[in-house]
Amino acid sequence: MAMNFDQNIFLNNLAQTTENPYLIAIEKAEGVYLYGPDGKRYIDMISGIGVSSIGHRHPKVVEAIRQQLDKHLHVMVYGEFIQHTPNALAQKLVSLLPSTLNCCYFVNSGTEANEGALKLAKRYTGRTEIVSFRKSYHGSTHGSLSVSGNEIKQRAFRPLLPDVRFIEFNNPEDLKHITHRTACVIAETIQGDAGVRIPDKAYMKALRKRCDETGALLILDEIQCGMGRTGTFFAFEQFDIVPDILTIGKAFGGGLPIGAFISDKRIMQCLTYDPPLGHITTFGGNPVCCASALATLNVIEEENLLATVEEKGKLIESLLTHPAIKEIRRTGLMFAIDFESAELVNKIVEEAKKRGVICYWFLSHPYSFRIAPPLTIAQDQIKESCEVILQAIDSSVKS
Ligand SMILES: Cc1ncc(COP(=O)(O)O)c(C=O)c1O
Repeated sequence: MAMNFDQNIFLNNLAQTTENPYLIAIEKAEGVYLYGPDGKRYIDMISGIGVSSIGHRHPKVVEAIRQQLDKHLHVMVYGEFIQHTPNALAQKLVSLLPSTLNCCYFVNSGTEANEGALKLAKRYTGRTEIVSFRKSYHGSTHGSLSVSGNEIKQRAFRPLLPDVRFIEFNNPEDLKHITHRTACVIAETIQGDAGVRIPDKAYMKALRKRCDETGALLILDEIQCGMGRTGTFFAFEQFDIVPDILTIGKAFGGGLPIGAFISDKRIMQCLTYDPPLGHITTFGGNPVCCASALATLNVIEEENLLATVEEKGKLIESLLTHPAIKEIRRTGLMFAIDFESAELVNKIVEEAKKRGVICYWFLSHPYSFRIAPPLTIAQDQIKESCEVILQAIDSSVKS
């Protein structure tokens, strides 16, 4: 079959999420590289937005998927049949987590993981109020949108979930709004789409303490910042706290769609009775996605990828020196790079694209672009892409 990169079909027969999509055609992807049908090569400095953390088509991931394809695809809805691959994935994931995060519920995406987590917290506590943070992003379905602190995105879709209260991230004063009415607090450990906002350790400990005092469950959303992006498997490890419920997605699947919410079995079992089938999914824990996720966790460990994240992050930070850069916020290999205007950011992202490096915007922070390269990126690839980004900044500032 002839390849179909027809732009008209893309623009008219596929739904659009913006009026100005990125619009590059991709024929294949390998490691940190994307390739167009015309042979043009791009360095992927955003990993499909935090997904391809071990690079595109890692051979061990591809092999694990192949092996699963030869055994079985979907055989039953989530939670009924005992299947080797979801079992093995749950065992591996739990082995990487603190002992109170011992029960995994696999779903199909990040937003679905948060939906499940919110329902679980309401069901477990018998309370209704949810506390979230201004500028947070937790997904696009109704529940996740309801707890995403973005008035512009919410306005068009009201009514949303009732009883959601927004407080300021990293502001200890606001913790008093978490009370005995609160079912849960949902927070990104590192706020991603707000432009990489890194909270203080003392604040995160105070947040944990306040949840303990009031009986509110703490949900940490590590859909973007988990899976080694910040240099530890999970970002919460750096704050000396453990959430009651952890949500993951994106890089977890190594390029296939899978998410999870994870808690203590004691909490999770609420979803099995009164009512039974309190949360269900047809495709959650799909065996092919689980095979890909398991291989991805193994690769992160076997290739000792976490050990190099900080050093690579520092290298990028040191190379990206330019008078037009106002601020760089970074944790591990997760960057926000601020400029004086959204217009300049747009020009730079477009220029970098023309020159073969993919950078990207944030949802809620127009004055920055993001960088989140595969953790597997090599030093020479870092140097090459940073040089291109600096050229893109230079030419955008002058134009
Ligand atoms: C922190 C966070 N939570 C949730 C989501 C939603 O994940 P998904 O797009 O897989 O539904 C995202 C996606 O960007 C995210 O960054």
